[in-house]
Amino acid sequence: MKITVFDNERVLARTLAVQIAASLGQRPATVLGLATGRTPIRLYHELGTLHAHGQADFSRATTFNLDEFAGVERDHPGSYRVFMQEHLFSRVNLPPENVHFLDGAVADPEAECERYETAIAAAGGIDLQILGIGTNGHIGFNEPARALEPRTHLVTLKASTRRSNAGLFHGDPEQVPSQALSMGMATILHARRIVLIATGKSKARCVERMVKGPIDTRMPASFLQLHRDVELALDRAAAAALRPE
Ligand code: GLP
Repeated sequence: MKITVFDNERVLARTLAVQIAASLGQRPATVLGLATGRTPIRLYHELGTLHAHGQADFSRATTFNLDEFAGVERDHPGSYRVFMQEHLFSRVNLPPENVHFLDGAVADPEAECERYETAIAAAGGIDLQILGIGTNGHIGFNEPARALEPRTHLVTLKASTRRSNAGLFHGDPEQVPSQALSMGMATILHARRIVLIATGKSKARCVERMVKGPIDTRMPASFLQLHRDVELALDRAAAAALRPE
């Protein structure tokens, strides 16, 4: 795993945004996999700023978000779709028909998950997957478990995950849906390139376990060790537990 430690979140976000804008310049029809959570917000805003300055063109890009809450309509203020609209889609020139999302409100989640896998394949697969990490090591909504689901699936969320998403639901973890739809581990690992962002001291321990620990379904992010093109973009606080051998 390539590890890059940045002085602070601002420099991290700016640097990644410039890299993504450059790859869109080289390959305009790039397929991006996108994450929600607090971590990528600065990156999305930086991409918006670059776009406003004519330095990032999304007109031929395609996006697939990692996950969405189950039972939540697309225009619900707590939905990840609304989050993405606010932080990225409203700031850049992505054609709406190129934006792909899991529909959390469907009657048949299994069919919805299959539809998503088919859509990703039809787009030619994901070129660059942006990830965050949960403090319990989840990526997307692939929670620690005895076994991990390979493909897009319905997940039951851990209490800690519902707590950390409470901000989207009036600060009340009880209002956070108990289930979500998420890309699976194989869906994520099939991306050609993966950049995982982790910032702040609350992520130091899971970053250490992801990088130095065994590959363990109890630490889903550890499976990224198997991927040939993964970069971890960390700030100093998140990298604090990584000492040279
Ligand atoms: C959420 C999302 C993940 C995200 C993670 C970390 O539950 N489903 O995709 O990476 O938790 O969130 P944050 O960046 O707010 O720490």
